[in-house]
Amino acid sequence: MEKVKVGVMGARRGSTFINSSLEDPCVELVAICDFNKALLDDCKAHADQRGLGNVAFYDSFDEFIQHDMDAVILANYANEHVPYAIRVMDSGRHVMTECLTCATMKEAVELIECVERTGKIYAYAENYCFTPIRWEMRQRYRRGDIGELMYAEGEYVHDCSSIWPSITYGIRNHWRNLMPSTFYCTHSIGPILYMTGLRPVQVTGFETPNMPFMRELGTASGTLGMEIITLENGAMFKSLHFNMKHTTHVSNYQLNGTLGAMKDLGDKLDVYVEEPGKNGGGKGESYLPEHVIEEGKASGHGGGDFYTTHYFIRSILGDEVARERSIDVYSAVEMCIPGTLGFVSITEGNKPIKLPNLRNKAERDP
Ligand SMILES: NC(=O)c1ccc[n+]([C@@H]2O[C@H](COP(=O)([O-])OP(=O)(O)OC[C@H]3O[C@@H](n4cnc5c(N)ncnc54)[C@H](O)[C@@H]3O)[C@@H](O)[C@H]2O)c1
Repeated sequence: MEKVKVGVMGARRGSTFINSSLEDPCVELVAICDFNKALLDDCKAHADQRGLGNVAFYDSFDEFIQHDMDAVILANYANEHVPYAIRVMDSGRHVMTECLTCATMKEAVELIECVERTGKIYAYAENYCFTPIRWEMRQRYRRGDIGELMYAEGEYVHDCSSIWPSITYGIRNHWRNLMPSTFYCTHSIGPILYMTGLRPVQVTGFETPNMPFMRELGTASGTLGMEIITLENGAMFKSLHFNMKHTTHVSNYQLNGTLGAMKDLGDKLDVYVEEPGKNGGGKGESYLPEHVIEEGKASGHGGGDFYTTHYFIRSILGDEVARERSIDVYSAVEMCIPGTLGFVSITEGNKPIKLPNLRNKAERDP
């Protein structure tokens, strides 16, 4: 079987990819890079345990990028993916990056133009798109089951306060502490865009104050970020994310269309569908869809961690289905820039901001 030689940068979240690549018959893990030496030593010990004598370890990206490999998975700091992704693609390798896509509008354009210039495969590891329920919502929306989208909600509700000290590990300037409230938005926005294929055209941003329970842990921005987005067909979309107290850790996704609605309840999908031309009297059902690929069952984030890497690797191997399912650079940027410009909206008194269509070269320079 043809194997793709993969290197992973960033060994914290990156360890998920390290473990999953060991299970993938199409992957040969060849190199790991992290400038945290203690973490790198842990990885070495883990690799030895698993009998992986051929993996090389680097504490410098400059040396790592010289290694003989076909593709790199970037799980470094969330606000530093673009400069490294560009270096990876310019060196002739394919790249998948963790969340976020980009930190600024300038980076959004640079990333797109690097993919266009190099022709390399770029994939975005937005794992929240790929649980069986959200995949089913995508299939059913695209089949027209609930008609035209009028309203959507995407909520990534995750109170990380109890683990904040361990995920920022004493670094005051860690990106999790410094990031503006609306930036970590692709878990809430991504699945809705992935389901519907609709482009966001305008955003208005909102935030709460930096609440004491997070501020005391080191955060510098509003605790909750919200984007109210207009989609290209006129539908309204509410995206809400991060550290909110809740009864259960459930990320909410719902689509309301002209013929019905779908809602991800975490353990099942709720669907309501009316017959075209008949208002009311529709049929409701609740069920848990199956995984589209069996191996997804054992993977983290409801299987999402498996599908992102699986489709990335098979896209490199020329599989058209994988390419269609994987998240390309244009979609990745569209999932992210409502957060970037949503923060500009907040600083301008919640003013609505037009989102440029970066698929269109003429809209990139401004
Ligand atoms: N999709 C998800 O569900 C999910 C979950 C957790 C984290 N993430 C993403 O994974 C990425 C990493 O997050 P994390 O939780 O592992 O924490 P993190 O950002 O603190 O870890 C980044 C790691 O990369 C290393 N690193 C950073 N810059 C480097 C450089 N220039 N050279 C060498 N090593 C470098 C750091 O030492 C650290 O170990 C982020 O983009 C985050 O958004 C995604």
